[in-house]
Amino acid sequence: MMETDIIILAAGKGTRMKSVLPKVLHKLAGKPLLQHVIDSANSVQNANITVVTGHGSDQVRSSVPSSKTSSLNYVEQTEQLGTAHAVQMAVPKLGDGGTSLILYGDVPLILPETILEMLSAVSESSMSLLTVTLDDPTGYGRILRDESGQVTAIIEQKDASAEQLKVKEVNTGVLAVKTEQLKQWLPQIDNNNAQGEYYLTDLIAIARSNGVIIETKQPQSVEEVEGVNNRIQLSGLERFYQKQQAEALMVAGVTLADPNRIDVRGNLKTGNDSYIDINAVFEGNVTLGSNVSIGPNCHIIDSDIGDGVEIYANSVIEQSKVARGSIIGPFARLRPGTVMAENAKIGNFVETKNTHVGKGSKINHLSYVGDSELGEGVNVGAGTITCNYDGVNKHKTVMGDNSFIGSNSSLVAPVKIGKNATVGAGSTITKDVPDDELGLTRASQKSISDWQRPTKKSK
Ligand code: UD1
Ligand code: CA
Repeated sequence: MMETDIIILAAGKGTRMKSVLPKVLHKLAGKPLLQHVIDSANSVQNANITVVTGHGSDQVRSSVPSSKTSSLNYVEQTEQLGTAHAVQMAVPKLGDGGTSLILYGDVPLILPETILEMLSAVSESSMSLLTVTLDDPTGYGRILRDESGQVTAIIEQKDASAEQLKVKEVNTGVLAVKTEQLKQWLPQIDNNNAQGEYYLTDLIAIARSNGVIIETKQPQSVEEVEGVNNRIQLSGLERFYQKQQAEALMVAGVTLADPNRIDVRGNLKTGNDSYIDINAVFEGNVTLGSNVSIGPNCHIIDSDIGDGVEIYANSVIEQSKVARGSIIGPFARLRPGTVMAENAKIGNFVETKNTHVGKGSKINHLSYVGDSELGEGVNVGAGTITCNYDGVNKHKTVMGDNSFIGSNSSLVAPVKIGKNATVGAGSTITKDVPDDELGLTRASQKSISDWQRPTKKSK
């Protein structure tokens, strides 16, 4: 495989974001813009990626995790003197014999297929340029072609004549060229232009004068090459991206109540015939089996949901594993470490954390169950609370198979309720309850006969 260098320009300030955060760290689908670009660049095997940072350099370097498969370098461009100058900063990191491709940290939706197509069009005698035709080309560099249709140059908006401004084919900024040629031609670029900048676009005319032809390629959509300069554009790309993911889910066999009201921020894997109602948000790595039903307004983060699970409205599930046939919600909160075995139930206004709920066990109403181990067939009554925290340390609660916890009980951990054991409603349990026995701590009931209710005093 040929050596490939991918240079990502990310030095700009992003003034129009009106933010202290560098522009390329703003998130699309929960992931920094720059990370989207790095992930796409990673589709090229063994690519050597160099990110050119400037504004917020340190923050960018520390916030974007390193690339998964390729080598990732950072170089700094302390003054933003133009796109050619930015690429020049990366030259010391480039290989010798291969091909270089230029991407942009604020153009997040570039597709791996496009990158590969661009690279494959490069040879000693040809470079590739990604162009797009727009109804309104205002602001972009225009593509100039000769009478035979060959690209001869790019002219920036501010340098263009009235005639050139009519051209609707514009420069996306993405180009690929032999690294040797790039190194040779960059120093020939000057800043004699309307903006006093070193334009990378001047590379095109230089290539032509060296007999190298410009092969143009087009993206699959305009959005693929759209940059983010303000938060309106960011939201536009977010919606485009979410719509694509919603369509992919439907193609994969999931019914969506409304494809405009689902957000996937990460990877969502699904089986067939699941149904997702409105306003579901998925984050990180989520797996849904088949025949899962998700009610309105659910938030599911880094969790595995088995076949046939029903999740009712307004439930939040994080770092949890839910086995098939289980029922959750409405208004349930499964915090990290919740594991539900088959056909278990966590119902309304129940919060769980670091808890294993055995097969067929139920925590149906208004409970907090943390650091607990429930066997099979356990029934936890309404309002049961595990007192798992003594203010310093967390302790474990065990509820054996078929145990029954009466409503409004407090289980003060560490404590163990035996198999088949019962806890009387309203008890505060501080000692283990043996198998098959009843644990009860509430005061016994008295009846007072002839009880007179107080009467209102007269003044
Ligand atoms: C550039 C192209 C233009 C193209 C447009 C597409 C040039 C001269 N013009 O124009 O033909 O139609 O992109 O959006 O290349 N950057 C740096 N360092 C710099 C300058 C820029 O890192 O010194 C980065 C910016 O952060 C930005 C990108 O390069 O991500 C593009 O720079 P920008 O100044 O926005 O170029 P445009 O004027 O939009
Ligand atoms: Ca721009």
